[in-house]
Amino acid sequence: MANQKICEGDYVLIYLDARRTYMIKMQAGQTFHTHKGYLKLDELIGKEYGEPIKSSLGIYFTTLKPALTDYIMKSSRNTQITYPKDAALIVMFSGIGPGSRVIESGTGTGALTTALAHYVGPAGKVYTYELRSEFQKNAAKNLQRSKLIDYVEMKSGDVTLGYEERDVDAVILDLATPWLVVPHAYQALKPSGIIVSFSPTIDQVVKTTEALRENNFVFIETIECMMRAMQVERGKTRPQTLMTGHTGYITHARKILKPPVQETPQAPPQEEAVAQEAPIEQEENVEKTAEETA
Ligand SMILES: C[S@@+](CC[C@H](N)C(=O)[O-])C[C@H]1O[C@@H](n2cnc3c(N)ncnc32)[C@H](O)[C@@H]1O
Repeated sequence: MANQKICEGDYVLIYLDARRTYMIKMQAGQTFHTHKGYLKLDELIGKEYGEPIKSSLGIYFTTLKPALTDYIMKSSRNTQITYPKDAALIVMFSGIGPGSRVIESGTGTGALTTALAHYVGPAGKVYTYELRSEFQKNAAKNLQRSKLIDYVEMKSGDVTLGYEERDVDAVILDLATPWLVVPHAYQALKPSGIIVSFSPTIDQVVKTTEALRENNFVFIETIECMMRAMQVERGKTRPQTLMTGHTGYITHARKILKPPVQETPQAPPQEEAVAQEAPIEQEENVEKTAEETA
């Protein structure tokens, strides 16, 4: 694949080391100041990603093309955001992919919206609901920056009152009272559609799980993802001393049309019973043969 050149208007990740990265927009005639000297952006425009650039103090920085995690972590925040470790699992459990239609609420900073839009792509759509207009405006800016805004429809409103969409593939919740939204998610989802809810506390998880059970959702599971980074150096490789202790729990479930009615088991006719037992006998024979061989 041909290397891509940096164009005016692009966002570029300026990398010094893993802890010092800066995402900046390329604007002709501008300079970017750091404690290691300033960079002239004119010198970056037209270069290939990955090329080094020297600051006014002679320190080398590297230019990188921002990846999805960079857009999430460098988003301009006015709420707590969904971190990449949780966003990755939310995307995986939701079953979404190119062309999926997904409802999300609340939008917040739009970090999770960015991840969802990235995966549904131009053939899909993320309908993201938010109560507060100032958060929505900020999220829209973040989505413009990642060039994913076209795959997103930003909606205002209180989702405890319901959703407008129907037959969506997935509903993703990250708000204070997800259990109040479960009946509306049920209405919006297609049969077998998937709901994923992210909550920081166990109390929220319990209420949400109860609401899922009462509203014809099955295959309900809650998990917590703890990520531990490693510091890698020959002879000294070990987990890093500090880690994020807690972000939240992920609960996911699937919509069914009716609760399954379990029929009372009846004694099988004699012949059938014999037929069912045959494979077990076979299995026992295999074990015996193994013992005999030993
Ligand atoms: C924790 S933030 C979501 C952060 C988001 N996942 C992200 O990665 O940026 C929760 C958001 O839900 C919004 N919210 C809370 N209750 C809501 C409701 N009933 N309807 C719509 N939005 C709601 C809040 O205003 C807030 O912006």
